[in-house]
Amino acid sequence: MELTKLFSSAKIGNVRIKNRIVRSATWLARADELGYVTEDLIETYQKLGEGGIGLIISGYIGVHDNGSGNYRMTRLSNGSYKSGQKRLVATIHDTSDAKVAAQIAHTGSNIIRAGYELVGPSPIKVPGSIKLVRELPTKEIQEIVNSFIYAGTLAYECGYDMIQLHGAHGYLLSDFLSPLANKRIDGYGGTLEKRFKIIEEIYHGLRDKLGKEIPIMIKLNTHDNLKNGLTLEEGKEITKRLVALGFDAVEPSSGRTDPKLTENKSFPAPIIKKPEEENYFSYIARELKPLMSNCALILMGGIRNPIAAEQFLEEEIADFISISRPFLYEPDLAKRWESGNLDSTYCTSCNACFGTIYKGTGGIFCPVKHKQEKKSIKN
Ligand SMILES: Cc1cc2nc3c(=O)[nH]c(=O)nc-3n(C[C@H](O)[C@H](O)[C@H](O)COP(=O)(O)O)c2cc1C
Ligand code: SF4
Repeated sequence: MELTKLFSSAKIGNVRIKNRIVRSATWLARADELGYVTEDLIETYQKLGEGGIGLIISGYIGVHDNGSGNYRMTRLSNGSYKSGQKRLVATIHDTSDAKVAAQIAHTGSNIIRAGYELVGPSPIKVPGSIKLVRELPTKEIQEIVNSFIYAGTLAYECGYDMIQLHGAHGYLLSDFLSPLANKRIDGYGGTLEKRFKIIEEIYHGLRDKLGKEIPIMIKLNTHDNLKNGLTLEEGKEITKRLVALGFDAVEPSSGRTDPKLTENKSFPAPIIKKPEEENYFSYIARELKPLMSNCALILMGGIRNPIAAEQFLEEEIADFISISRPFLYEPDLAKRWESGNLDSTYCTSCNACFGTIYKGTGGIFCPVKHKQEKKSIKN
């Protein structure tokens, strides 16, 4: 079977992408302790670019020092981060024809690193956390809006082709959307319109600074998959608002980053044990796509088989196909599929990669592949 659609070019906003394969944002824990880009991080991205991906979305980049509460994540919280980020983007552009998007984020209440303060819309314990969140006063919300706008502007100056807001997985922007985390009764909470306000302000600020020069996308929690949480009906309403504002692409997601909540169902990267469990967010795409004229839908979540990916594009429930874990196992997956080897990815979706950060080995990697490589060297 020929993957005619998967390997055809298409645009997001004014940027043409050589094929429909997107690397979904993946934190690699390869920055230094303060979030500066390292040679190791650059080399990892170079391999992804050379591996044939059309659009690489960076691992999340903290827009604020206190909003960078994960181990060795990158930052763009001030100008000192520019030179490293510039080198990273230039390396990908010089060594491949992949486009690169900066995913900008504030970790909010979803912090795993000591020394960072949990902040969010309301002073409660959010699902999956045992700690109280400090409620952000309006003045600080304004500062955070400004830091998103500033980080987006820096990303543009560093040469990134696009920007993606991280509005998912229990990080700050998705906490504002979720009625489980947002109990405010001021202009930033209550109705859906008010819970959405922070995203709207960031969008307007970025467009005021950058015009239509650079596409703006969002990874969006379309629902929480938790009792009394954000519903898919609300997710559809948010999508309509994003399209009306002028967002160039939406990558639908769901859940928080704690797999213990509702037995994996509200976790965006569940373990996949059988083929029927693949493509687990395609039902969201089917709901959203009819609402999205002039806005690309990037389908993500357990996509492992290139023929299924081709069918989603043919059926027109997605414009792009986004993949994360498999690129840890095989950064050259896109090239392999393009060369005609249509085996599903060899990544088994076991999630052992999540544990590698705690092993002190320097960055997230695939331990399954690592073991196989060690064995083949021995033999
Ligand atoms: C190690 C790791 C790091 C991740 N980091 C991010 C991130 O920085 N930003 C984000 O939006 N999603 C992140 N994700 C979620 C993925 O982008 C993706 O949404 C999820 O893994 C499902 O896609 P997959 O089935 O292709 O892996 C991460 C996932 C993994 C496995
Ligand atoms: S550990 Fe390796 S095989 Fe398992 S999910 Fe992560 S990348 Fe895939």
